[in-house]
Amino acid sequence: MKKIVIEGGAKLQGSINISGSKNSSLPILAATLLIDEKIILNNVPNVKDILTMVSLLETLGKKIKIKNNTLEITSTNKPSYFAQYELVKTMRAGILVIGPLLAKFNMAKVSLPGGCAIGARPVDIHLDFLSKIGYENKVVKGYVVSKKKFSKNKISFFFKKISVGATETAILSSCLSSKEVKLINIAIEPEVIDLINFLNRSGTNIKFIAKRSLIIKGVKNLRGLKYQIMPDRIEAGTYMVASAITNSPLILKNISVVHLKNIINIFKKIGLNIKILSDRSLKVLPGRLKSIRIKTVPYPGFPTDMQAQLMSLLIFAKGISEIKEDIFENRFLHVLELQRMGAKIEIKNNKAKIIGIDYLSGAQVMATDLRASVCLVLAGLVAHGKTEINRIYHLERGYENLVKKLKNCGAKIKIINVR
Ligand code: UD1
Repeated sequence: MKKIVIEGGAKLQGSINISGSKNSSLPILAATLLIDEKIILNNVPNVKDILTMVSLLETLGKKIKIKNNTLEITSTNKPSYFAQYELVKTMRAGILVIGPLLAKFNMAKVSLPGGCAIGARPVDIHLDFLSKIGYENKVVKGYVVSKKKFSKNKISFFFKKISVGATETAILSSCLSSKEVKLINIAIEPEVIDLINFLNRSGTNIKFIAKRSLIIKGVKNLRGLKYQIMPDRIEAGTYMVASAITNSPLILKNISVVHLKNIINIFKKIGLNIKILSDRSLKVLPGRLKSIRIKTVPYPGFPTDMQAQLMSLLIFAKGISEIKEDIFENRFLHVLELQRMGAKIEIKNNKAKIIGIDYLSGAQVMATDLRASVCLVLAGLVAHGKTEINRIYHLERGYENLVKKLKNCGAKIKIINVR
């Protein structure tokens, strides 16, 4: 087992290169199951979730060569429609292979997913859509077993709740067919748009007809292509917090400024000065932090994936801040750990009240999801004394070279092996 040890208080300086987006790479990797020809993906982050998805695709008939951040994906003559529990259990995005498998084989057996412990996280909307387009779905011994029952040429589907994953499943299961599918009330996160761009580039026809509605005109074959994954906006937001919390100006490179607008606006409101250097880079100039009331909402609102990191920053904001978590229940697991470091945070249902203070002390902490883990790293950067973060498994799932990137900027941070 490994843990991260941070000696708090060091100032940061310099610049950080942001990696490619994990949450965009995962559905695009699932989409490669729809394409027989060779695909080259650039800017794929080298993180655990990606390696898990690669292993999963290899069991489903793909051959994948990884060189730095480039993946070369070809097809073998051993395709399969069976996605095993061992690979899907650690990563919720494993469910995303169900759409392409059904599009290819008209049947699929996919383990119900695992992932972060941030609530129940059902897949009912994914399955509602698949039923609507003609598949019968049963849950048998932890697996979703789906088979084609009927076929319809024109389908219109309304999402009862905005869901990134269910939108991606709907798109992935529809673009290789003779159907015309209208999707209403979809998620429009930049990662969903990246998937659509990838699929359109490979020959499908997906067109927006309104802000949250689109029409997919399926095609018989998709062609191979070379594609550059978008930058990770959540990683960028996380390092913006690292800059602000340590009161150190930092430059972020390889970002997409347009995707960060919502996050930048909130950071400006709480007192940071953000200088846009180009559409691919910005500089964070920390300022005196002000409290804020905010809720997490689907894009273009403030993302739930930045909630924990924002909370660690608001600990140092003057006055009382409030964060309402409107996407996931049970996504305040980091609060108990932040309290152990001295934070004054009160939770009532899905609201957290953060009372501004000016001092955290280092402690032994651990977290149970990806963003919660990174918020403890951020708190550790500024806490007095030593912070030890246990169970860093979740961090490795989603942040490429986190420790190296922070260390290169001057943070006193290291990974140590423990028994
Ligand atoms: C994706 C992201 C995750 C992010 C989340 C919200 C990936 C790999 N993960 O997760 O980092 O936090 O979007 O931006 O891209 N829901 C249902 N039934 C369903 C599906 C979802 O009730 O069938 C609910 C969820 O429990 C949650 C809400 O809808 O309350 C949004 O979830 P969703 O957008 O689907 O999140 P994921 O795609 O799992």
